[in-house]
Amino acid sequence: MNKVNYDTLLNQIKSITESETNKIANLSNSIALIHESLNTLWTGFYFVEGDELVLGPFQGPVACTRIKFDKGVCGKAWSENKTLTVADVHSFDGHIACSALSNSEIVIPLRINNKVVGVLDIDSEQLNYFNSEDEKGLEHLVSYIEKLL
Ligand code: SME
Repeated sequence: MNKVNYDTLLNQIKSITESETNKIANLSNSIALIHESLNTLWTGFYFVEGDELVLGPFQGPVACTRIKFDKGVCGKAWSENKTLTVADVHSFDGHIACSALSNSEIVIPLRINNKVVGVLDIDSEQLNYFNSEDEKGLEHLVSYIEKLL
């Protein structure tokens, strides 16, 4: 059995966001629900500003505020316009360690008209925490979250 029921999580995100129009409120509650459901170390958004990603709503320890295009796992998911799943961050060339406790990571691009406008970044203390079910489930969640932007 997978660790998260992504259909339930999507329904929770929909019910908390559908009657609210404020973007920051909706993104903040969405990230809190994802963080709690996945039981991860750090869960947050970064948004594109010029040639950088800038920290958005998140849950977890203090994090780096700016990440350059193509740098770190986040910057690579942006430049390659695809989900990146890293089983062991210590063997990812260029990984940016915001927390020494992080061991695995998944980054999903947020797109508007197929242009990356941000990323959803999730870190786990466990090695190899994210599998193909998580990739599929999180990409589906992100396709809803993109409508909130
Ligand atoms: N590890 C990320 C940086 C962001 S933190 O994990 C919150 C990266 O390599 O891009």
